[in-house]
Amino acid sequence: MSYIQFHNIEKRYGSSHPAVTDFNLSVNKGEMVALLGPSGCGKTTTLRMLAGFVSVTRGHITISGRDITNVPAHKRNIGMVFQGYALFPHMSVAKNVAFGLEMRTLPTAEIQSRVNEALQRVRLGAFADRLPKQLSGGQQQRVALARAMAINPDVLLLDEPLSALDARLRHEVRAEIRLLQKELGLTTLIVTHDQDEALSMADRLVVMSKGLAEQIGPPAQLYEEPVNRFVAEFMGKTNFLEGRREGPTGFRTLGGVVLKTTGIGPNASNCLSFRPERAKIVSFEEVDDPTLNTLDATIELFTYLGPVIECRLILSTGEHLLVMVPNSSGFRGSGVLEGSLVKVRWSPEDSRLLT
Ligand SMILES: Nc1ncnc2c1ncn2[C@@H]1O[C@H](COP(=O)(O)OP(=O)(O)OP(=O)(O)O)[C@@H](O)[C@H]1O
Ligand SMILES: [Mg+2]
Repeated sequence: MSYIQFHNIEKRYGSSHPAVTDFNLSVNKGEMVALLGPSGCGKTTTLRMLAGFVSVTRGHITISGRDITNVPAHKRNIGMVFQGYALFPHMSVAKNVAFGLEMRTLPTAEIQSRVNEALQRVRLGAFADRLPKQLSGGQQQRVALARAMAINPDVLLLDEPLSALDARLRHEVRAEIRLLQKELGLTTLIVTHDQDEALSMADRLVVMSKGLAEQIGPPAQLYEEPVNRFVAEFMGKTNFLEGRREGPTGFRTLGGVVLKTTGIGPNASNCLSFRPERAKIVSFEEVDDPTLNTLDATIELFTYLGPVIECRLILSTGEHLLVMVPNSSGFRGSGVLEGSLVKVRWSPEDSRLLT
């Protein structure tokens, strides 16, 4: 049973191009959904409409079946962590966390105990009297999280909560947020433009572009079965070969090679896509397997990434491909060098036809 529902939402600021349009989304209770997309695609606007900080131009939003489209923000019981830090710099950590509770004029003793509880949850109980500037970036973000959770919100909204942190801290706080969210069963929407973050944190993702939801689904579905080029490209590294369909399951590349596919995809497909980790590099002497796709290629560049080696290949047509080779595969000692002529091989099942 869906808990939050956006029904045909549109938002226009003034008379300009809509910031969000035709937006429909159901979020289940306890679910964590990530809004993902490039800068300016409408992520923050969507979150702010749910929080009540931005009015809705058209459509309506319900929580638990109740229409909240015109309910003022302070009556929605939604906790939000804003883009950037947004802690009050002159207030102690405890005062920052107490802010939303004081706005609700709760008794002092209850405020105190809720502040303590919220700070314990993010493991900052010992930091209550510090000022934000006396904390690290990751700690500040955890205070912002504690502040949003102190009001016992029905819904938690996180707008790029980790963008100001360095890569290591981001991984740490990411896991912490996800654990807390699961433990408390908090219905959460998180905004990010980092696909890794979205894949690792959310139960479902919404990929947005120019105010539209391009695709909604669980992480694996968006990664493995993107509905179009935009989603495929946004969800991580991928290979595109331009061309057109030929017959029910064939695809003729611009270079004139006919590749095998499952045939699933729009009739007007003009590119074939496959993920770099789905392909294999084999020796040029190896006999072709007729059930697989095989292309001749020259190794242009190796990039050592630790767990994998990224190989950039060039085809005789001048097109480039990426192949990720697991470091464990013994490839590094195999004598294949930059400049070597090789074959790239991948299965029709791993090919997607897109527009
Ligand atoms: N208050 C405003 N007045 C006018 N236009 C706005 C306002 N806020 C946002 N916009 C416009 O609406 C569109 C969507 O903005 P929004 O902030 O929702 O994007 P976003 O996806 O959160 O981007 P980012 O990743 O950069 O934070 C943009 O074109 C933006 O310029
Ligand atoms: Mg934003």
